[in-house]
Amino acid sequence: MKNEQSHRIPTTDDIEVSTYLGIAKELHGEQATPEPKPLPPKERETIVVIDFGSQYSMLIARRIRECHVYCELVPWDTPWEKIAPLNPRGFVLSGGPASAYNPDAPLALPYIYDKHLPVMGICYGMQVITHQLGGQISPGEKHEYGHAILYLNTEDCPLFASLPPSFPVWMSHGDQILDAPPDFKTLAYTDNSPIAVMGNDEGIFGLQFHPEVVHTPVGKTIFQNFVYKVCSCQGNWTSANFIAENIEKIKEQVGDGKVICALSGGVDSAVTATLIHRGIGNNLTCIFINNGLLRRQEPERVLNTFLRNLKMNVTYVDASERFLERLKGVTDPETKRHIIGEEFIKVFEEEAAKLGKVNFLAQGTLYPDVIESSSASETKASATIKTHHNVGGLPARMKLSLIEPLRYLFKDEVREVGFALGLPEDMTWRQPFPGPGLAIRIVGEVTRERLEILRAADWIVMNEIKKAKLYRQLWQSFAVLTGIKSVGVTGDYRSYAYTIAIRAINSNDAMTAEWAHLPYDLLGRISDRIVNEVPNVNRVVYDITNKPPATIEWE
Ligand code: XMP
Repeated sequence: MKNEQSHRIPTTDDIEVSTYLGIAKELHGEQATPEPKPLPPKERETIVVIDFGSQYSMLIARRIRECHVYCELVPWDTPWEKIAPLNPRGFVLSGGPASAYNPDAPLALPYIYDKHLPVMGICYGMQVITHQLGGQISPGEKHEYGHAILYLNTEDCPLFASLPPSFPVWMSHGDQILDAPPDFKTLAYTDNSPIAVMGNDEGIFGLQFHPEVVHTPVGKTIFQNFVYKVCSCQGNWTSANFIAENIEKIKEQVGDGKVICALSGGVDSAVTATLIHRGIGNNLTCIFINNGLLRRQEPERVLNTFLRNLKMNVTYVDASERFLERLKGVTDPETKRHIIGEEFIKVFEEEAAKLGKVNFLAQGTLYPDVIESSSASETKASATIKTHHNVGGLPARMKLSLIEPLRYLFKDEVREVGFALGLPEDMTWRQPFPGPGLAIRIVGEVTRERLEILRAADWIVMNEIKKAKLYRQLWQSFAVLTGIKSVGVTGDYRSYAYTIAIRAINSNDAMTAEWAHLPYDLLGRISDRIVNEVPNVNRVVYDITNKPPATIEWE
């Protein structure tokens, strides 16, 4: 199995790991909450999620943001001095793998209770509250994992406003509550958990189940009730407010300085550039490098959007020759990646040098990258993030400061902001496309002829998938030029031509993936069109392998 960490040279747009939320939302047919009227940015309010290490912590933050309330996820030991500027309106204590009664278990810091703000503890978070406020937990002899029915004991708990007396929830815990702390009422139970929800009059709640996962269908209503009915939030986290606030921030940060930004054609760099352009106009120069490994019409479309429609300052560099020259005779996937990454930085540096004095480098870093690398300090976080990017070594070498306006956004929020900024849909909804481009979808040597074949086949795949309205649901769908040639027959002639593989997968985070069960007639149409329309291809196969053991890309 390929090592994920080592073989990737991601670009800003490749930090797609977070797309799972947006796509998951679509798959489960959830309606987006309508956007409330924009409020002045000074009224910023935050729900702070205290992270005890659950695999679902990020999902809690997403759910709250879906309610149009700003939310940040912070490590459990974050001091109050860092929390206070966020203007917190309430806390959510996440789940986590520890047992609250163990001597070295992470617990809530005193401010969580001292500030008299509402608190919602989920799973381990509930056990923390129980342990710290004088209740009793029984060590889990009986683990509970999976669906359960929750029965409410009361009709007037604000957390459950407009919910039926019983509903399905998702459980995943070992320890359970034996006695609630003094002054807490048992608000709901399941067959296995007599105290499945508890609460007191101060707005401190404990939930044994996970409202953040899709298997708790009413989860969104519970979060809405918590933020609006318990924490009295106004709901001013909207694309419009984000854009207005950040344009001002960018103006302030950059002043009269000059900014450069590498465009890739994907949503992250597109939104980053557009936002910065709104703030500082032509003091932003975008560099768009055509490495010769892009898909059909991609360079034209990117230029059309940024240069002609948005009237940005774009330096277009057709470096196809250089890249293809260096890739001549190279067949090893890792070497391909390495060459492409290296060449990209060289071209970028050369172009940037022509611009004279530049002060900032804009990057499309997203919140999940920040969270994933930030269980410790900011410094550590940004150090790790830089290595994710193609332009990674540049800021230090060129003495550039970083500007990362999307640093607090999830992928689907980036798409929404892109939409609100007027970017075309094919850019805001683009499936992830790897930095090394088509080079890692051609098995063996990358040549002009092979690239042309793959472009033509890929165009058909994309076209048919879009016509079938599956493009947004699928994590990725594309064609691969396998290194195989096989015998075929066309009319009276025997042919010996390439085999194209179709890859279409569902995924939540690209770390694991399932091959998509595309309808046979769609596969049939794609196959017919490829063998009829693409010269030098006489066979089409469908890749029905999951990741693991296969990777998404073939190279
Ligand atoms: P694999 O093939 O590792 O792909 O299952 C996981 C996700 O990462 C993308 N990918 C890359 N993106 N540079 C990139 O920018 C790379 O070298 C690279 N390799 C894979 C792939 O498209 C999928 O979304």
